Amino acid sequence: MANEREKEAAARASLRFINDGQVIGIGSGSTSACFIQMLGERVKSGLRIRGIPTSDLSAQQAASLGIPVTTLDECPEIDVTVDGADEVDPQLRLIKGGGGALLREKIVASASRQLVIIADSTKRVPVLGKFGLPVEVIKFARAVVQKKIEVLGARVILRQNGSKPYLTDENNYILDCHFGEIADPERLARQLSDMPGVVEHGLFIGMASVVLVAEGNKVDELRGRR
Ligand code: 5RP
Repeated sequence: MANEREKEAAARASLRFINDGQVIGIGSGSTSACFIQMLGERVKSGLRIRGIPTSDLSAQQAASLGIPVTTLDECPEIDVTVDGADEVDPQLRLIKGGGGALLREKIVASASRQLVIIADSTKRVPVLGKFGLPVEVIKFARAVVQKKIEVLGARVILRQNGSKPYLTDENNYILDCHFGEIADPERLARQLSDMPGVVEHGLFIGMASVVLVAEGNKVDELRGRR
């Protein structure tokens, strides 16, 4: 319950980054769901924005609240994206993809002038890697990529949805890769990007402009370089 309150507090704090007339990237996951709910309330009270959701689930929630949505084809430049994270380190490097939406999330983040991350206090870590790093792979390449990631030292689990492999919105698989502490996230990001069959990985480095971390009743604002 404390986490829920922190998620709401972080989501509420992100609203001050949203202005009338903007194109807003809409994140995925439970913290983003709080943000979408609050954004819907602002839209009902007259805020005019267009949203670009990062997952089918967030798109459904936005539609149910009457938030106007658009596409990257119509708006390839986004003013602000608000999204959650699974881990945030002191350099504002992130692990994302716990909800399986990392591919669209990273594309939307890369098209955004500002990326505002909202998180409860459990997401703040000194070193990334306690959370299994999600890596999206095309189905054909699953076994090959899994072996290569195991050689790098990770325990790799193919994400499941009941008795079947979990499928992303883009119809790919997710490998959850448990490295333990990731000493050099930049190097690992390059190694993963270089593997044929890897569509995207959940390391978001140098992307966050601001991280809003709720801790009890207060929300810390951490500023990135971007
Ligand atoms: C989805 C994500 C989410 O932002 C991340 O998993 C955090 O989720 P939650 O807010 O539910 O803790 O990256 O792909």
